[in-house]
Amino acid sequence: ESSAGFSLPTKYKEKISTLPKHHGWRVNADFYHYQGFWCYSFFLEGIMKSQQHFQAQSGDIILSSAPKTGTTWLKALTFAIVTRHHFDDSTNPLLTTVPHECVPLLEVDAVEDAFHRSPKLPLLATHLPYTSLPNSIMSSHCKIVYICREPKDAFISLWHFICKLAPQEEEHVPLEAALDMFCKGISQYGPYWDHVLGYWKASLECPERVLFLKYEDLKSDTLHYIKTLADFMGCPFSLEEESEGVVQKIMNLCSFETLSNLKVNKTGMHRSTTPLATKNDVYFRKGNVGDWKNHLTDEMVHRVDQITEQKFSGTGLMF
Ligand code: A3P
Repeated sequence: ESSAGFSLPTKYKEKISTLPKHHGWRVNADFYHYQGFWCYSFFLEGIMKSQQHFQAQSGDIILSSAPKTGTTWLKALTFAIVTRHHFDDSTNPLLTTVPHECVPLLEVDAVEDAFHRSPKLPLLATHLPYTSLPNSIMSSHCKIVYICREPKDAFISLWHFICKLAPQEEEHVPLEAALDMFCKGISQYGPYWDHVLGYWKASLECPERVLFLKYEDLKSDTLHYIKTLADFMGCPFSLEEESEGVVQKIMNLCSFETLSNLKVNKTGMHRSTTPLATKNDVYFRKGNVGDWKNHLTDEMVHRVDQITEQKFSGTGLMF
């Protein structure tokens, strides 16, 4: 039995038990330190397995992100873009399926069945830091889309998410304690800043292979970035599509308002047969920029901003 409460009957169990450990943001769920980042043991098993066995194809498109930075939205947008010739307004799977089931997560959903993939869909998501991506992703030169978010908003979203995941009787981690760990780099796939920097540097070195997006930019000019995504993924919109309003339709279909109000996302369950069963509605909270203002004291803001300034200074990255 792992500390996260999941059974872990694999050969990776032994290796995980030798890793440095720190208590996580949930009761009885420890983080382990692996290849420079912190992670729950349940995810580590899939991570190790995918690092050893996953075979990327050159046409694959990897969606990367730290948790709570816009993964759900990016999955929906890219899915809607690449499948737009297969579905019409009423048949799109996004209307009846949570985006996380439309695009699997490499280290959790895609590890079973020898990485069973739909041959028609090139999309695969991961939360892995850049330097820990499976070798075949690097060597096959497949494209990577990374999304990140202003660190204080990423933290607030993560804290709410962790609290919502916990059973009612479980005591929630106080915001102060969670923030302290976040600032020390101890968060799922953290340090958060290192995660962002890894992909930022890769996008500067290889802009044709790594597209670096910010949640805030996507919010303020969604139409533009939908076109950027389509161009980058090799399926640009034709002039005809643009004049028919296809880009606008994709924006509307994937908006927070549309997705969060769908029945499947209000009442459905994701990974329902696994220990990671999650209610779909926890992926949709507010979808705003700057919600940290409603939660953090001046002192907390100062602490996070200082780290951000220090970590990103001289890199050209700003929020
Ligand atoms: P908030 O908690 O700030 O509301 P992830 O998808 O990586 O788990 O990130 C979750 C964050 O994205 C949550 O932020 C969630 O509300 C927001 N989100 C989910 N779907 C969205 C959408 N279609 N458009 C914009 N934001 C969305």
